[in-house]
Amino acid sequence: IKTVNDIDVTSKRVLLRVDFNVPMEKSGGGIRDDTRIRVCLPTIRYLLDHHAKVIICSHLGRPKGKIDETLRMTPVARRLSELLGQPVKSLKECVGPEVEKVVSSMNDGDVVLLENLRFYPGEEKNDPEFAKGLARLADVFVNDAFGASHRAHASVVGVTNYLPSVAGFLMEKEVTSLGGLLEKPERPFAAVIGGAKVSDKLDVLDNIVPDVDVLIIGGGMTATFLKSRGNRVGKSLVEDDKIQYVRDLSEQAKSHDVRLLLPTDVVVSPSLDGTSESRTVSVSDIPDGWFIGDIGPQTIAEYTGALSGCKTVFWNGPMGVFEVEQFATGTREIASTIARLDAVKVVGGGSTVEAVTRLGVADQMTHVSTGGGATLEFISGKQLPGVKALEENRLEVPAVR
Ligand code: 3PG
Repeated sequence: IKTVNDIDVTSKRVLLRVDFNVPMEKSGGGIRDDTRIRVCLPTIRYLLDHHAKVIICSHLGRPKGKIDETLRMTPVARRLSELLGQPVKSLKECVGPEVEKVVSSMNDGDVVLLENLRFYPGEEKNDPEFAKGLARLADVFVNDAFGASHRAHASVVGVTNYLPSVAGFLMEKEVTSLGGLLEKPERPFAAVIGGAKVSDKLDVLDNIVPDVDVLIIGGGMTATFLKSRGNRVGKSLVEDDKIQYVRDLSEQAKSHDVRLLLPTDVVVSPSLDGTSESRTVSVSDIPDGWFIGDIGPQTIAEYTGALSGCKTVFWNGPMGVFEVEQFATGTREIASTIARLDAVKVVGGGSTVEAVTRLGVADQMTHVSTGGGATLEFISGKQLPGVKALEENRLEVPAVR
């Protein structure tokens, strides 16, 4: 794929799609982790150094085509402005005459941030009208949103039909690193998959099973797995419609000789906000009305043992509610175990990246991917629609002068 290095951006209006879908404080306003903003700085700085007018756009959360006051981009613009050391104008819309007016008065080296793309139903529907509205703002399109490139949305795919399109540096780095590291993984290859929901990771779990030697499950999705095996899981979130899926997955793992590991003990509590007592129990003794907050010490020891000797490890999704100290041990221990391994270690996903950054082990990983779902799909061998669109883009890019 072509990158910003291959095009002339001087005085051009550049529409830059990024994945600034950052974790926000629950209590309103603040950004909990700005990694996804920082990792796009090289592309933004390059464009500014080359005198482009930079029009940045991203989604934030899942507002489903409606305006949600808690998901406006204003705090993101503020943070970006601090990081860049220059003003970043935060617009209240993404398309239309008002936005076009602001863009037409931009000077070279100016930066604006459009409103949350997902306030518009046309974004997720990949509506050509919405894509054209975005394309009208710019001369070239740069996609640096690796983390959103598994979505065939208007700002990821649609817009490439109307503008010459290239990759940003983050996109280039992700595709090269992930492709190189995981194409022919050295074995044993372990995948550690956590996070809240099985349903978010269905396709990937399916796809990954034939590729790995060990599949380790943790986090909120554990409850659905445990219930599928007849355990009582208290008040933990269970996706009942995924129980059969999870059973099939276990069969699939067996038929591919994959070691599928589930927790044998868990940390439970009547609430997950850190205000109640917690206890470690066997998975067969989860009290009614309690929640699973983390994996237990015996499970940590089993997982650590299974990981030792692995030559490739991919980790996505925390092992528990790691933001709450009471439930942080599992994620912390798995993070430091993976960090110590003499292996290719790839970590992906918003909250997993947040966890390894917070725990100070990000430097010990081979590659920390900013993508969550995108990374999982990429390593399970799927072609991401956003990457495909860049590869296929036939509109002529303005050559480097
Ligand atoms: C992510 O957080 O993985 C990306 O920003 C994509 O978000 P989505 O799953 O809401 O499409």
